[in-house]
Amino acid sequence: MFLEQVRLGAVAESCGTPCYVYSTAAFEEAHKAYKSAFSNLNPTICYSVKANSNLSVLSLFAKLGAGFDIVSGGELERVERAGGDPGKTVFSGVGKSADEIDLALKKGILFFNVESYQELETIDAAAIRLGKKAPVSLRVNPDIDSKTHPYISTGFRKSKFGIDIREAAAMYEKASAMDGIEITGIDAHIGSQIFEVSSFEDSVKKLVGLLGDLRAKGINPQYLDIGGGLGVRYGEDDNPSPLADFAASVERIMEGTDCSLVLEPGRSLAANAGVLLTRTRYIKRGSEKKFVVVDAALNDLVRPAFYGSHHEIAPVRQSDGSKMETADIVGPVCESGDFLATDREFPQVETGDLLAVMSAGAYCFTMSSNYNTRPRAAEVLVRGSEFRVIRRRESFEDMIRGETIAEDFGG
Ligand code: LLP
Repeated sequence: MFLEQVRLGAVAESCGTPCYVYSTAAFEEAHKAYKSAFSNLNPTICYSVKANSNLSVLSLFAKLGAGFDIVSGGELERVERAGGDPGKTVFSGVGKSADEIDLALKKGILFFNVESYQELETIDAAAIRLGKKAPVSLRVNPDIDSKTHPYISTGFRKSKFGIDIREAAAMYEKASAMDGIEITGIDAHIGSQIFEVSSFEDSVKKLVGLLGDLRAKGINPQYLDIGGGLGVRYGEDDNPSPLADFAASVERIMEGTDCSLVLEPGRSLAANAGVLLTRTRYIKRGSEKKFVVVDAALNDLVRPAFYGSHHEIAPVRQSDGSKMETADIVGPVCESGDFLATDREFPQVETGDLLAVMSAGAYCFTMSSNYNTRPRAAEVLVRGSEFRVIRRRESFEDMIRGETIAEDFGG
């Protein structure tokens, strides 16, 4: 199995496992697909950093001219370190700290997506203190059923995200009277792994409706930020709408608004650009089940445990006619929830065989942890026939950095 012209077996031999491997060409093609589908609207494509925040990946998107969608001061620092433009960066999230707000104001981001009245007041005060005007859009909650996993659905009324759309116009009026605030946009993000264009349509229509109400009050946001991108295909049951349909419907709804479009795709730019390489350690036959015990675990890739997500898994060296058997593919972590797949029809593999977990370019490494004191995996970027380690595997010392044994209590 190859990624571009690089043999995955060679990466595993050189870098060890578990190891994430990403394709430069796949990131670039995904970005190009957005650019060309939305070409009539000339959008600011703000790559959602949380999907895959490795500096090399951010640098690659920065070089393509992308902006960034961030949710923390740390992500903003990453964007800058990777050569990204803070002036093309939007800052979302319900709990921005005072320090993060100051940092974003000093760096000059494109705008804040504000999620509550208290946050608006905090940003206003910070901007006045720093002698600046804070560019702001309100993230509205349009009350849409985005038909995705409840943990990643964000645009329904009971969700913690956004400002109830029925209260948004009044809050915009208050915001426009604040000395430190400059209204720049309207924003919504209704969730992730959304397949149906109609969910986005419902949301964008509501944003355009709100835009009309605001203009009638003399408030004139220039940007419409419609949040994250389309869902992606993890397996044969996943059928996201074509990007062209998404773009065409946004174009139709935005016609005549004279607003600039902002998109915040993460998953659809990164998920299918990466695989997780893992090696088989043991084959264990329980009385009820067969377990393929591999060296990657939920600390490396938590999506199956957390959301019940499906990732295709395949042996890196494929031999025709290997017998299929039902197995759970599990990791070494002490949790019954530590699985990459359950009851999967899988070719018979042996100890030492290398497996590739597919669609691991987004929300995989970034959600990894040191649980069970396991080092976070290495990350590798492929380009053509070459590859580079873009994050070395953590060492034991990396994992305990910052810890001390407390011995200096008084009394
Ligand atoms: N904008 C905002 C404000 C977001 O919160 C997100 C994702 C995005 C954009 C990007 O959405 P995308 O284009 O990737 O669908 N950990 C979960 C996904 C969580 C998504 C959180 N927000 C997973 O592994 O499925």
